[in-house]
Amino acid sequence: NMPVPYTNMFRRPPVLMPVAEGVDEKGPWQRYRVTQKAGLAAIAPGLTTTVTGYNGIFPGPTIKAKQGTRIELRVANALTIQRLNGLPFNTVTHLHGSASLPQYDGYANDSTAPGYCKSYKYPNWQPARTLWYHDHEHGMTAENVYAGLAAMYTLSDPYEQAQLPQGEFDVPLVVSDIAFNANGSLAFDDDSHEGVMGDIILVNGVPWPKMKVKPRVYRFRVLAAAISRSWRFTLSNGEPVHMVATDGGLMPKPVALKSWRHGVAERYEILIDFRKYKPGTRIELRNLSNKNNVDFKNTDKIMQFEVVAGSGPADPYVMPTTLDCGPQPYANRGALHVDQLTPAMSKARRKLSVERKHGLWTINGETWEDVQRSGFKRVLGNPQPYDVEIWDLENRSGGWFHPLHIHLIDGKIIARDNTSDGKPYAWEEGAKDTFYLGENETVSVIMQFITGDGNDGGRYMTHCHNLVHEDSDMMIQFAVGDATL
Ligand code: C2O
Ligand code: CU
Repeated sequence: NMPVPYTNMFRRPPVLMPVAEGVDEKGPWQRYRVTQKAGLAAIAPGLTTTVTGYNGIFPGPTIKAKQGTRIELRVANALTIQRLNGLPFNTVTHLHGSASLPQYDGYANDSTAPGYCKSYKYPNWQPARTLWYHDHEHGMTAENVYAGLAAMYTLSDPYEQAQLPQGEFDVPLVVSDIAFNANGSLAFDDDSHEGVMGDIILVNGVPWPKMKVKPRVYRFRVLAAAISRSWRFTLSNGEPVHMVATDGGLMPKPVALKSWRHGVAERYEILIDFRKYKPGTRIELRNLSNKNNVDFKNTDKIMQFEVVAGSGPADPYVMPTTLDCGPQPYANRGALHVDQLTPAMSKARRKLSVERKHGLWTINGETWEDVQRSGFKRVLGNPQPYDVEIWDLENRSGGWFHPLHIHLIDGKIIARDNTSDGKPYAWEEGAKDTFYLGENETVSVIMQFITGDGNDGGRYMTHCHNLVHEDSDMMIQFAVGDATL
């Protein structure tokens, strides 16, 4: 029943339409609705798979937000189906990449039970970027996301619109992996608490798709949405891609890359120029092996592009030499772009050391169990709004890698201990919220706790985005401001 690579046509997730919009004293707003429910998907030939996703599909529908237009997303939990372990299908939704208020940030213990719904409010004041919304239920995140609760969310602004391809040429690539049982159900085995690595690669829910492209410059928003697998993407013809954006939006300038390492939850936007290829040319997006992953027969393949003949005038797009992400929101309150942050501004330097202890994954020897036992009081630190800090993230866990995610912030890597010059990799030269810690690597990140309007601070999570690690139980928290102490 294995699907054959490059036989299924590429598709984009549907775009969600607002159910209401308007303007109030704070400006424009939109309201959206999604329902978490079961649906059927045909992924492997001859098999039907039940997915539980936003609106019953995986990936869920894409939400297209505009900077300055607030969004209220009403999420209804209609997951009345019984889980194998007998637990109710509780959920909580996190918008990854958003500086959300704490009560709308998808706090892991803020569950919505089947039959109930919650409205999440998203401020959308940040510069343009690629985000995603996914489940964050404590102890169940890996299973819930694997079952389908993940979707893309794009935030646009006039600067990004003026500089990067739009519309048909702005393409989401949600890359994940899965494995099936013989009956077509999803195979999920995390007994080792190490990771889940499937043998089928999906792009936007389609196994190894084939995409017809015009002789134009395309922008791909690549989201690594697997549970555990990391990737090293490359083009099969040896040509570079032009990376233009990281987790937090536009990079200072495009970077030509022959490959890049990409961990769970990181977003990298790349441009590929198909103008120079003859119609009929086929180019594959491939995956080179990364340390500590599990490779299967076709996990080195991702998708295939086939260039078709163009029509009409040639694409006039000129590859930019620099990129302008526009003015910094809340600059009047002291907010700075990550590129302007300097170590001299830092008010505290904290160490986050990752270790495996007694079968649990810990940060500074602690887990989310410790946070729960403290009545949710225990925090790594207590920065005030707009404070700048440096965090040293170190992987002392032996043969594994960890994509460490810090909620709320955009950060910039100022040092890496595993590169020859101590600088970040070329693809990491931008605003980031998820930091790849390979085996024995240490990464130093400078960040500012920009809260925005109506946000007095509160508790925000920090965790490994290998979701199996997050669930057992590699998550701690910090508190911004004094509101929750
Ligand atoms: Cu993408 Cu705390 O999550
Ligand atoms: Cu981890």
